[in-house]
Amino acid sequence: MAISPVAFCVCRDYAALQKIVSERCGDGGMGHVITIAQQKGGAGKTTLAVNLAVGFAKAGRSVALVDTDPQGSAGRWFMTRIEGDGGDPGGIDFSTASAWGVTYECRKLAERFDIVIIDTPPKADSDLRPALRAANLVLVPVATSHLDLWAVEVVMYLASREDVPAMIVMTRGRPGTRLAADIAEKVAEMGCDVAAAQMANRVVYAETLGRGRAVLEATKTPAHGEVQALVTEIGAKLDSL
Ligand SMILES: Nc1ncnc2c1ncn2[C@@H]1O[C@H](COP(=O)(O)OP(=O)(O)O)[C@@H](O)[C@H]1O
Ligand SMILES: [Mg+2]
Repeated sequence: MAISPVAFCVCRDYAALQKIVSERCGDGGMGHVITIAQQKGGAGKTTLAVNLAVGFAKAGRSVALVDTDPQGSAGRWFMTRIEGDGGDPGGIDFSTASAWGVTYECRKLAERFDIVIIDTPPKADSDLRPALRAANLVLVPVATSHLDLWAVEVVMYLASREDVPAMIVMTRGRPGTRLAADIAEKVAEMGCDVAAAQMANRVVYAETLGRGRAVLEATKTPAHGEVQALVTEIGAKLDSL
């Protein structure tokens, strides 16, 4: 539902604007919103976002992907996708939103789609707040590195301030290495919710992304099982909220 220009002008205060949007749109029959956030760049946010988008679409859910990162990686992925396939997005809707415009965009999309996935820039400041607040679930990818781990706490804190559940998703895992064991131990110590399903470090994730595709659309590899397990786990988590 559109906000009138008058309401928009009168409502300089962000919280009040959000209240208007919320009251007008209501919550009945809304889809689930997943925000993917991690302060650290290169952690795998966009990779997780597009693979979940395709995974949920393949699982029969209607999906909208929203890119709030000015860098536009998810948008580039989507454009590559439709250019390569005669304009067919493969069951995924795409839009962009500014940091604070995401609130209204999401509300609109959640009325039409089962799953709305928001990809965000590598930030954890007040600009991230609307994307966290709009979410039913925040996913925080942690690549197997201490730098990623150190960046987790601030996103977890911001999500908790918005009273939104957050879950760590381990990515770029290198099973069997000392580093992987060390990171897993430290994550466990943090006491955060961690997805049982993980994405290992596999070239197929990077390779498919560059073609506007996802691993579930490529020749079957062990990555298929990883993404399918994530989709099942996250879908169940959303349904339980
Ligand atoms: N599981 C993975 N295995 C291998 N490469 C990955 C994996 N996840 C991400 N990458 C690669 O790491 C780089 C950063 O990932 P990206 O999703 O763009 O991170 P972010 O959105 O957090 O900046 C990209 O080149 C991507 O292809
Ligand atoms: Mg990205």
